Amino acid sequence: MAKLCVIGTGYVGLVTGTCFADMGHRVTCLDINEERISMLKNGIMPIYEPGLKQIVDQNVEAGRLDFTTSYPEALKDSEFAFIAVGTPSNDDGEADMQYVKAASSSIAKNLDHPIIIVNKSTVPVGTGDWVAEIIHDLNGQVTPQFSVVSNPEFLREGSAVMDFMKPDRVVLGSTDSDAANRVAELYQALRSDIMITDLRTAEMIKYASNAYLAARISFINEIANICETLGADVREVARGMGMDKRIGPAFLDAGLGWGGSCFPKDVKALAHMAVTHDTHPQLLQAVMDINFNQRKHAVDKLEKALGDLKGKTIGVLGLSFKPNTDDTRYSPSLDIINMLVAKGATVQGYDPQAMKTSKEEVPELNLCQNPYDVAQDADALLLATEWNEFKSLDFDRIKANMRGNVVLDGRNIWNGEELQEMGFFYFGMGIPGSL
Ligand code: NAD
Ligand code: UGA
Repeated sequence: MAKLCVIGTGYVGLVTGTCFADMGHRVTCLDINEERISMLKNGIMPIYEPGLKQIVDQNVEAGRLDFTTSYPEALKDSEFAFIAVGTPSNDDGEADMQYVKAASSSIAKNLDHPIIIVNKSTVPVGTGDWVAEIIHDLNGQVTPQFSVVSNPEFLREGSAVMDFMKPDRVVLGSTDSDAANRVAELYQALRSDIMITDLRTAEMIKYASNAYLAARISFINEIANICETLGADVREVARGMGMDKRIGPAFLDAGLGWGGSCFPKDVKALAHMAVTHDTHPQLLQAVMDINFNQRKHAVDKLEKALGDLKGKTIGVLGLSFKPNTDDTRYSPSLDIINMLVAKGATVQGYDPQAMKTSKEEVPELNLCQNPYDVAQDADALLLATEWNEFKSLDFDRIKANMRGNVVLDGRNIWNGEELQEMGFFYFGMGIPGSL
């Protein structure tokens, strides 16, 4: 069993550290956010991720997992240091590397024994070499032996533990094949395919994978918009397409478009890398434009149904960027709420996990305690994030509470015919009667 430390206790770092501890390794998770570490030390999860608290508790109790804000403490006896800090977007779309730089510098300053540095953050191609230079430059004395391995993470929020424990593949990239093989050993218990390649290729696999998934969603949303004009049903189109083994059914749900802490920043960062190396990212640009237009398309639909939105009340179900997470970064729901507020509408909303951050991001949003309060005196109801609890609502109660009868099903989860029969003016995304 190995001793390792994980730097950053967000969605990726906390899940990675906890899952390695659960596999029997001895793990210290480190964060510079003192409040986060103090919460973790007190058994409180700083993020909402289904199933995570239980395995954190079990591994803390078993003495395999602990938390610190001290680099010397985390690095002590560690054979591996995983970097899992954030890489958000700069204003021009470039990945902001300040956190990776700070984490690498702190490792360098506190390193007194050989170590393998494993980069799990999503980082621009070439970062692995750059991290190695930082360690060399800053360590000062005779630098202990170290290697850098890129190990991009493919987990999704909302199913992070399951995705980590049952990955489709583990990708490792390094110029040091012994180091890559040692990281591979850590993952062997998961019995998944392990691909070992060079550093830059591993870094690119991560961006290409996210960009491809985002492109599939933008593709189906463009098809949805064409379906609307021609009277076809995008749900059935996606089902029919997905039966082709070369296409497959995943990531073909039309709706309000993609959001989250990763697709938006990663597609932008890849496009930025291309432009700064004199390549025109024509497809990536279209993928981003379609995604932005999808939000506007939803607002246009509400405007068509209600007329001028000034003074209208709109209820929004779901605020997080997808179900089963409290994450609101680049949430389609919040983007749409901002557009509605800008047009003079009053917006009231509810989410099972993301109320606090949503209110911080959009102060004009009025929070409600449940879906029925969201419907109260609303002229229209928008389903923005498909949490399970929104799938079977008491629509008689919703109707009685609403002032109007417009329902926009932004994720195509409800039975439109039934709602029409109940007297709602129902429309979805890319399904007949949606315009
Ligand atoms: P996050 O924002 O949830 O967490 C990052 C954590 O790093 C924060 O707690 C922050 O305090 C900490 N941190 C920042 N600087 C630090 C430093 N110098 N030393 C120690 N800790 C520091 O981020 P996340 O969503 O977990 O993403 C981390 C990386 O993983 C990103 O590059 C992201 O693109 C990538 N990724 C994320 C997901 C996901 O689903 N969220 C999936 C795959 C890959
Ligand atoms: C995504 C990838 O799926 C992960 O493999 C990757 O590791 C992660 O980004 C990352 O790099 O951070 P995540 O953002 O957590 O994971 O969530 P997804 O399930 O991919 O959903 C992203 C967005 O696309 C959500 O807004 C979701 O509503 C939307 N989406 C997804 C659709 O609109 N249609 C679909 O068919 C699928």
